[in-house]
Amino acid sequence: MSHEEFPTDAPAVVTCGLPYANGDLHVGHLRTYVGGDVFSRALETLGQQTAFVSGSDMHGTPVAVNAESEGVSPESFALEWHEIYKETFPKFNVEFDNYGHTHDETNTAITRSIVRALEKEGYVYEKQIMVAYDPIDDQYLPDRYVEGTCPYCGEHARGDECDEGCQRHLEPGEIEDPVSAISGNPAEYRERTHKFFEVSAFSDYLSDFLDGLEGTSNARNQPREWIESGLKDWCITRDMDWGIDYPGAEVGDESSPDGASDESSDLVLYVWVDAPIEYISSTKQYTDRVGPDVYDWEETWRGDGEIVHVIGRDIIQHHTIFWPAMLRGAGYTEPRAVMASGFVTLGGKGFSTSRNRAVWAEEYLDEGFHPDLLRYYLATNGGFQQDVDFSWEKFRDRVNNELVGTVGNFLYRSLLFAHRNYGGTPDASVSPEVESRIEEAIEAFTAGVNDYSIRDAGNAAVRLASFGNEYIQRNEPWKLTDDDPAQAAQVIFDCVQIAKAIAILFVPIAPDRCAALWAQLGEDGSVHDVTVDEALDPPARSFDEPEELFEKIPDERVEELNEKLEARVAEATDDTTDDTADAQDEETETTGATDMDDIEPLTTDRISFEEFQDLDIRVGEIVSAAGIEGADKLAKLEVDIGLETRQIVAGIKQLHDLESLQGTRVVIVTNLEKAELFGVESNGMLLAAGEEADILTTHGDAAPGTKIR
Ligand code: MSP
Ligand code: ZN
Repeated sequence: MSHEEFPTDAPAVVTCGLPYANGDLHVGHLRTYVGGDVFSRALETLGQQTAFVSGSDMHGTPVAVNAESEGVSPESFALEWHEIYKETFPKFNVEFDNYGHTHDETNTAITRSIVRALEKEGYVYEKQIMVAYDPIDDQYLPDRYVEGTCPYCGEHARGDECDEGCQRHLEPGEIEDPVSAISGNPAEYRERTHKFFEVSAFSDYLSDFLDGLEGTSNARNQPREWIESGLKDWCITRDMDWGIDYPGAEVGDESSPDGASDESSDLVLYVWVDAPIEYISSTKQYTDRVGPDVYDWEETWRGDGEIVHVIGRDIIQHHTIFWPAMLRGAGYTEPRAVMASGFVTLGGKGFSTSRNRAVWAEEYLDEGFHPDLLRYYLATNGGFQQDVDFSWEKFRDRVNNELVGTVGNFLYRSLLFAHRNYGGTPDASVSPEVESRIEEAIEAFTAGVNDYSIRDAGNAAVRLASFGNEYIQRNEPWKLTDDDPAQAAQVIFDCVQIAKAIAILFVPIAPDRCAALWAQLGEDGSVHDVTVDEALDPPARSFDEPEELFEKIPDERVEELNEKLEARVAEATDDTTDDTADAQDEETETTGATDMDDIEPLTTDRISFEEFQDLDIRVGEIVSAAGIEGADKLAKLEVDIGLETRQIVAGIKQLHDLESLQGTRVVIVTNLEKAELFGVESNGMLLAAGEEADILTTHGDAAPGTKIR
């Protein structure tokens, strides 16, 4: 199925993978929540009606095991964390329309009704299976209570997930050589009757579903492989007390949370049944609060809603196989998109909560950084699917160069000039050039949202600011105020218009800073209620003296933070007393990256040979190279590509001795869209490697114009 472009007339819901209510949040988790928040705000900026929901994941062994080790009940343990998360998210400007939890009445009732619906449709059956049991502690050992060897890849794994090896979901009884994760006692297998959901019946449906699924490509490609290798039915009950009781046979008591007491009442539902259902429950709670006229959860989940799930790549299988099968089986609307982010790592390795190998959410705030800076870094550092290794240097560079250097600099210099000379916006109307440049930015933003690329959506505003800098530099209004006041007013009006457009287009990434900018511009109301259509409305007439929106991060701060972090990572890595993965260790597939912090992970997304052939890459020879005035990094090259000589702009000014480049054989992509940088047209792209722009050349003597294949 192909979908209509955003904005559509249907209500949308953006959901974030629920955090397990079992410990501190770190910057890795924030990639999901910032990602979801940016995307949902971006949809709203396009004018799409959108609910943004999530909640705490209270059940399951990830919570029970940690509560047990603290000697408290899972309920009070999880509720405590739930309250903390509820307070933490808004501190990062992650503002859910509803943030519930999986143990509340709404979720209990909807979960039961969905399980009953699946039973009624004949998708649930009973089967006897062997489950791990600790004979000394007289305890069943579901999921994270048991560790052993993965039957598929032989790696050490925990009961429900091969988290260090092949990442497969493991069914009860599959793990080999089981031992209790709590006591270390060797476990035995005992026969028990459990309930199964017939996922295998949905194979064909899921294949079609994946063909139409939007979002990131990893969320389509990985599950296709799983379907091809044959879907297994899914055990949906566990031998535990903590969780939602398996609903009894009696029907019609959905309102009573404790209704069931038949022979299945000693079984609870597997946490991955009731957890995604919280997406629905949380949306319903939102409707309960604001009324169906404002937002109707049933239209979304039972009608034609645009459902977008934002998650990390570790939980793709749950969201693209089990969950859509459940929705389909129980008669709910299927998701439109799954956006699965890459992992945030530290020194190339997964975060570890218990070993303190992490950058903590609270820690970031305690260091005094503004939340919008981290939002920008997380949202635009690499594609959403790419793993990102957290580094304070890169954080500083992006803040200082882009937020301060490009966005903040443009806004401050142009608004200050406007305020001083005109007390705000001069009398004029937007010029055709700036109007079309703002329209382009809106198009880029809209395309970014429709491609599920929060980076592209965010960069639309940064590029516009960069154009603004170039525009003001090129027109030099400070020279015009006396000689050509009308032209000076024109240029400054244009700049204020650009500033207004930035305020609107950058809101999803930097909600607080853009609200400040909106007020700064003297605009009425909240910028959060404004859509892209207003970006070209005339700016407010008067405004006060501007303040700088972003502050530079000094190098000393980075050194200080690095020292702290390095000591912490070293300590966590040395801590080899326990060589099994901790319940809260995140292992990643990025291998041996400790010494290669700066190497970006490989893109797992393959392109076809035909797609490669679309690139026209040629050997070229540099005829001349000169710096571009006013631009720190850019050089203008004349490159002979056999058939013609091309003018190409490349970011190599400070990295190479330009004069010595004449005669160098280079590699040029010739059919890239033309671009204009600092007013200079670039008609092709010079290929170079890495931060130092190591220029690619040829080994033999292929003549200029030779095609590279
Ligand atoms: N409770 C489940 C999700 C249930 S959704 C119905 C869970 N919880 S979690 O606390 O482990 O993770 C919460 C979110 O953070 C998930 O989207 C997960 O993928 C994401 N991440 C956790 N660690 C991460 C990184 N280091 N990097 C990027 N995302 C990470 O899974
Ligand atoms: Zn495995």
